[in-house]
Amino acid sequence: QAVYLSDYTPPAYLVDKVSLVFRLDPAATRVLSRIEFRPNPDAAPGQPLVLDGEKLKLIGAAVAGEAVKDGDHTQTDTGLTIPASRLPAEPFVFEAEVEIDPSANTALEGLYMSNGMYCTQCEAEGFRRITYYPDRPDVMAPFHVRIESDEKVLLSNGNPGASGDGFAEWTDPWPKPAYLFALVAGDLVAAKDSFTTRSGTPVELGIWVRPGDEGKCDYALDALKRSMKWDEDVYGREYDLDVFNIVAVDDFNMGAMENKGLNVFNSKYVLASPSTATDMDYENIEGIIAHEYFHNWTGNRITCRDWFQLCLKEGLTVFRDQQFSGDMRSKPVKRIQDVLQLRARQFREDNGPLAHPVRPSSYIEINNFYTATVYEKGAEVIGMLKRLVGDDGYAKALDLYFDRHDGDAATIEDWLAVFQDATGRDLSQFGRWYTQAGTPRVTVTDDFKDGTYTLHLKQETPATPGQPDKQPQVIPVAVGLLNPNGDEVQPTTVLELTEEQQSFTFDGLSAKPVPSILRGFSAPVILDRKTTTEERAFLLAHDTDPFNKWEAGRALAKDVLARMVTDRAAPGPAYLDALERVARDETLDPAFRALALRLPSEDDMAQTLFDAGVTPDPLAIHDAREKLMLALAEHLSSVLPGLYEDMSIPGPYSPDSKAAGCRALRQTALAMMARLDDGKTAAKQFRDADNMTEQLGALGVLLSVGHGQEELGTFYRQWQLDRLVIDKWFALQSSLAAPGKAADTTLALTRHPDFDWKNPNRFRSVIGGLATNAAGFHDPSGASYELVADWLIRLDPMNPQTTARMTTMFETWNRYDADRQALMRGALQRIAATRGLSRDTTEMVGRILGSA
Ligand code: ARG
Ligand code: ZN
Repeated sequence: QAVYLSDYTPPAYLVDKVSLVFRLDPAATRVLSRIEFRPNPDAAPGQPLVLDGEKLKLIGAAVAGEAVKDGDHTQTDTGLTIPASRLPAEPFVFEAEVEIDPSANTALEGLYMSNGMYCTQCEAEGFRRITYYPDRPDVMAPFHVRIESDEKVLLSNGNPGASGDGFAEWTDPWPKPAYLFALVAGDLVAAKDSFTTRSGTPVELGIWVRPGDEGKCDYALDALKRSMKWDEDVYGREYDLDVFNIVAVDDFNMGAMENKGLNVFNSKYVLASPSTATDMDYENIEGIIAHEYFHNWTGNRITCRDWFQLCLKEGLTVFRDQQFSGDMRSKPVKRIQDVLQLRARQFREDNGPLAHPVRPSSYIEINNFYTATVYEKGAEVIGMLKRLVGDDGYAKALDLYFDRHDGDAATIEDWLAVFQDATGRDLSQFGRWYTQAGTPRVTVTDDFKDGTYTLHLKQETPATPGQPDKQPQVIPVAVGLLNPNGDEVQPTTVLELTEEQQSFTFDGLSAKPVPSILRGFSAPVILDRKTTTEERAFLLAHDTDPFNKWEAGRALAKDVLARMVTDRAAPGPAYLDALERVARDETLDPAFRALALRLPSEDDMAQTLFDAGVTPDPLAIHDAREKLMLALAEHLSSVLPGLYEDMSIPGPYSPDSKAAGCRALRQTALAMMARLDDGKTAAKQFRDADNMTEQLGALGVLLSVGHGQEELGTFYRQWQLDRLVIDKWFALQSSLAAPGKAADTTLALTRHPDFDWKNPNRFRSVIGGLATNAAGFHDPSGASYELVADWLIRLDPMNPQTTARMTTMFETWNRYDADRQALMRGALQRIAATRGLSRDTTEMVGRILGSA
């Protein structure tokens, strides 16, 4: 049942050309295919033709013009095999007609219907639900598509061809694997624009949405044009078709999909207007539009040989979209946000039962490996590579990559070879980042003698499922030194830790310096160093590296919170004064100040305590965090109202990053003020707000101080007809319910007439929202666990992919006390015992429980 990287064999047949005809019908779509096959010269000769196919009704098939009769082939649940004896030794044409039922497709993989429109999702293995085909990424071919339907708009990949009454044709000249195929048909309208490439080719841009939504596409279009320009300027990559289309769909299992020339997006990541989208939505739209666009080169022109190489396209494309957002906004702020995400999702994964390498070596269901490790740690690995070879080396290597591998289905070995060849650097040890799972822990000690300062670094990667022993990795540790008066005496330099233990010296120093270690978060590791509150406060005040400046404040907050939880200690003045200095420091970017003043999340604290050998109590963490918030609010009581006023921006809402940064700081101030004025300021902001950022921000603050019931009603009546806004309304309630009320609140939400559980966004808002409510999810009664299990069991037969993804709500079970562990395991076992459970969910639950 499992697939292994080591079992890879090249395809027996290659495809020179694909022609498809779609006769669309909601319940009985006919797909006619004509595929030109040719024996692969690099594979063993005389093999059968093995085609993938699932949930297809075969109407008829032919090889070289001759009908394939019963007995000529074997047909199973997973495909069609035609024996070699029935195949010419020369190139041949395979034709088939199949029938599929898009209206019954609730898994949202293959061709399905969303709100009356036809759309597709083929990555990773959805094309096999459309027709018989070698559905593997190393089979690449140009596609010609004809769509026959009365729907108003008929779209597919590539350039538009003939069209007329009831049909449209599309030709994609660039060879592509089947997972990049897309088709959309429906009553759609476009917001249009154009872009001229730097070599002068005009490209028509279209964002296709349901009538009424065309006014919400400006920002996405603008982000698209900026992405196209950026990829030319920074990577020298131009677009390669006459049109670039994006379609927004309401029912989608993930964020978006990079189908060639026809990206399909979750509407949440396209549609935006000031009154309905928050600053965070705008930022996500910008980043995801860029991500999918960048895939045109890193993913489509150069794709993956097999799904084990997923990080080849995803890690690189995430790295590129992070660079882009950093360039469009603030680099340091973007870096801090990315590290927050990495720790919240990837460290959590890497330190639990689902830990796996950036390039896994086996899987049961590939959809389960679109993970934070493959994506975000995959991007970190590229960031380390860039730091090690330098910016010039990186640019050379990337040029060589595009040059050498354009049109290929490549591997991580190909990727590393390009860096070796371009820079001369031996990367064999570095390659371990792709094969070893687990977050390395780097322990640092230091000494100072006769003007020489020495850092002693030691690395250790914990055992992970299937990998008991780890080898040392190449860890770039960016370091700077400050002298005690706050001046930098050693600017950032990169120490390369390659052994288990290594020491690095700095001489000619007049006093023992204060080290700033792992600047810019130069490696995805846990840094372990005993240090004092004073030193952290010193770095928060003086570090020249913005990431480590923020990190110092973060570490302070975690120390304080940890002592509040374990010793009931009150927060001391060192921390409170340090934060007051940040709050008052007008030389600091407001977005940075907002991040520095925000407290670590409850889940982050649980992970931190667990790392330190303490069993986290979610309720105690919640209480401590609330107390610290109050203490901070009291300490800052004279600063907050002024800050709140100063950060208000006159004039109409603009989503730009500067304005968003001011609003973020204002929101942080508002949350603290609510602890002092019982939500009075928040209630006023809710009434006065003319944009969703401030309206939703105020509502969230009200709920978190136990108010806002009336406002919830007002908000619902105002936005009842806007699905994306109502998703926020649901999510806010399950995620912010008081700990003891979270399960009941969520249960009530699932009974609301607007709880459309078959819509992934709505399901994630309500059920996923409960998981972000750490104290509520871990209610000692187990009520939340049971509620989540009930709903996952219900969703699984409809939509295995989303169900499997959401089982990760339980991935931290082994952090907690014996009672909670037993309750969580019980919930997981109940899911596992469900009759007919999908392969997706079976694999996930098995791995979480440690039995697969
Ligand atoms: N390639 C898409 C992206 O990163 C995501 C596809 C996710 N597919 C899946 N089966 N989970 O933009
Ligand atoms: Zn991607």
